[in-house]
Amino acid sequence: MKRIVILISGRGSNMLSILDANLPVEVAAVISNRRDAAGLASARARGIKTCAIDHRDYATREAFDAALAEKIDEFSPDYVILAGFMRILGNDFVNRYAGRLLNIHPSLLPAFPGTATHRRALEEGVKIHGCTVHFVTEKLDHGAIVIQAAVPVLETDTEETLATRVLKQEHRIYPEAIRWLVAGRLKIEGNRVCIGIPGMPKGTLISPEIPC
Ligand code: GRF
Repeated sequence: MKRIVILISGRGSNMLSILDANLPVEVAAVISNRRDAAGLASARARGIKTCAIDHRDYATREAFDAALAEKIDEFSPDYVILAGFMRILGNDFVNRYAGRLLNIHPSLLPAFPGTATHRRALEEGVKIHGCTVHFVTEKLDHGAIVIQAAVPVLETDTEETLATRVLKQEHRIYPEAIRWLVAGRLKIEGNRVCIGIPGMPKGTLISPEIPC
């Protein structure tokens, strides 16, 4: 069975959606860059090993990245899953796990890379917003896209209501992307990911389609 390590920074709801999805993976550890991340307790409650490598203990980004990589490698994961991990990772780190490092981002990339995606979506007046699972590459939030889900932006939306609607979709698409990843179904060709689902239904707001 493939092994994954999940990196979090906060409440860890995406992590929980992965843990609760009955994926054919061994979750070797959940690691946070914050000792007080609420998600660490939730992971421990499910019997998963946890640890914290606090970025504030390191003088430079490179030193933190190196310590984090060393800790990750202790668990010999096949894949590293960023689930609400709120630190930018340097090129050495990203390249060390090239093709093995996934992230979820709360926007329809390449729109709204970076932070405050829901506020910016409201400010720009977009009518459709969503979330993206992508491979991590050197350019922030620009790696090859695995799956996206779209939601409508309503006139009554606030940052919070929009974030809630998007998060619900994050919890659907991230476990699915990991299922494909560990099954060896994702082929990266340039900046495109081929998944190879025969007879995929059309006309959906999730691309590729996944069952409800
Ligand atoms: C999610 O919206 C994720 O996409 C973003 O930060 C949030 C983390 O939420 N990067 P959680 O910790 O998974 O609940």
